[in-house]
Order: sequence, then structure tokens, then C-alpha cells
Amino acid sequence: MQILDGKVTAAQIRLELSEVVKERKLQGKKIPHLAAILVGNDGGSVTYVNAKVKACEEIGFESTLIRYDDSVPEDILLAKVQALNEDKSIDGFIVQLPLPAHIDEQKVTLAIDPKKDVDGFHPMNLGNMLLDIPGFICATPAGIMELLERNNIETEGKNCVIIGRSNIVGTPLSLLLGRNKSPGNCTVTLAHSRTQHLAEICGNADILIAAIGQPGFITADMVKEGAVVVDVGTTRIEDPTKISGWRLAGDVDFEGVAPKTSFISPVPGGVGPMTIASLMMNTLKAMELKGK
Ligand code: GUN
Repeated sequence: MQILDGKVTAAQIRLELSEVVKERKLQGKKIPHLAAILVGNDGGSVTYVNAKVKACEEIGFESTLIRYDDSVPEDILLAKVQALNEDKSIDGFIVQLPLPAHIDEQKVTLAIDPKKDVDGFHPMNLGNMLLDIPGFICATPAGIMELLERNNIETEGKNCVIIGRSNIVGTPLSLLLGRNKSPGNCTVTLAHSRTQHLAEICGNADILIAAIGQPGFITADMVKEGAVVVDVGTTRIEDPTKISGWRLAGDVDFEGVAPKTSFISPVPGGVGPMTIASLMMNTLKAMELKGK
């Protein structure tokens, strides 16, 4: 069994990006600038956004964090999105999800200029991905593809089972792994909460990707000997041994499953750092697509 080490792979990507920044600085060219809008104080969202800002600092990208209280009216948020769309110094921006219940997430996503939508959540970018037209691919699916590619995981002709059909992970990932490209060319099964005989289906997977948000859901009996297992789960669970009082738990029972696998991604240190690295790659791309 080998670890699919997202921490190491993401650090390599950050290093490559920092080299690009250094070179651009030498040539007097623009430095990529990412903005992030964070609404409220949800612990997970604050952690993720801080990690994104920190990654920008490490690479040498510029970053701007815009914070609003939970009670921010929808029209104020939409006006900010519009201002960022028009701000020439900002190459790309994200609005961290989830948003409070009184704000229509779809309306906010649709308001983002697709050319600055480095999260790849806008329908234009999702459609471009489907048709293999250049655009932004959602950070978590793109990060998983990068993790597989950079660790030389063979995908061609493999049975891939993805559990979880969210718009930002499972569904786009099913398209990426099924497309006629490398990595890709998998035979993909997109399983979900209504799937019958799930253990049997998972047992046929050469590549098993768990994105359901239920800690320890995937147990050893569901995994084929020698499978590649990617754990997208990041649920906060209580842990009195930690100073914070919590730890991140993946969807896979790591201890039980790992010995059966050829490769497995841990939580933390697997998909999470790759998501952030992909966002950074998309931000550079946003600037390059503008021809700067
Ligand atoms: N919430 C959970 N994952 C993400 C992500 O990748 N981007 C944004 N904007 N919000 C998220």
C-alpha cells in the first residue's frame, strides 16, 4: 500500500507556481490576484478560506479577503460580486459556500463572471468542462485528477466508482474520469444515497472515490484487493485529545481499508491540499486567459 500524499503533491505544485511568479516578477509582468468572499463564521469555511489565502502568500500571488457578517443582505453580496467582476486588478475570485439560508447560492454563482470563476461553479464553466472547451474545472475534481496523474495512477479502462453526486465533486468528477483523455477513459459508476447493492458495486471498483460526508462509511469489506481509494470526506468530529476539540474525519475507515489498497489518500493530507493547489492553478490560468 502506498499513500496518495496530497500534501507532498500540492507542495510540488505550489513550488512550480512560485517559480512562475518569480519569473513573471523578473519580466515585470502582472502577478495573479485571487479574491475570496467569506460570509459568516462557519469554522470549516473560515479554515478553508484562510488556507487559500495562506497558499497565495506562499506562492507569491496577491490575495484579497472580503468578509461579511452572516446577516449581509443578498443585494450587498451581489453588488460586491459585480464590483469584483469589473475590478481589473482581480484575476479570479471565489464566494465560499455554503452561504446563509437567506441568500440564493445559485443567484450568486450565476452573477460571477465565468472568466473569473476560478471555482468553476458557473454553468458556463461546467458546460465547457463537459465539451472539453478550455475553462475552469472545479477545484476538488481537478485536484483529484492532478493527484492521480502526478502519482502515475493508471485510469485507462478501469472501473471507477464514485460515491456522492454533488455538483461540485461527484458529478463533475464522473465526467472527467469518463472522458476520452488521460487521465480518464474509466468506466464510471456514480453511486448515491439511493444506490442499491452499494457494497457489491464498490467491491468491483479499481478506483473508489468516496465523497459522501459520512465518516468511516467505506469499510474493508466494500473494497477490492489492490484498489486505489480516494477519500474526499472532511467531516469535523469531536476529539478531546486535540487542542481545538475536533479533528477531520474522512469517509473511509482508513485503518481497516488501507492494507487492502494499492494506493489510498489520507484525511487530512489527501484531497484537501490538492483542492487548494487547483484553485491556485486556476487563478494563474485566469490571468493567462486574459492574455496578461
Ligand atoms: N465549499 C466547500 N468547498 C468549496 C469550494 O471548493 N469552493 C467554495 N467556494 N466553497 C466551497
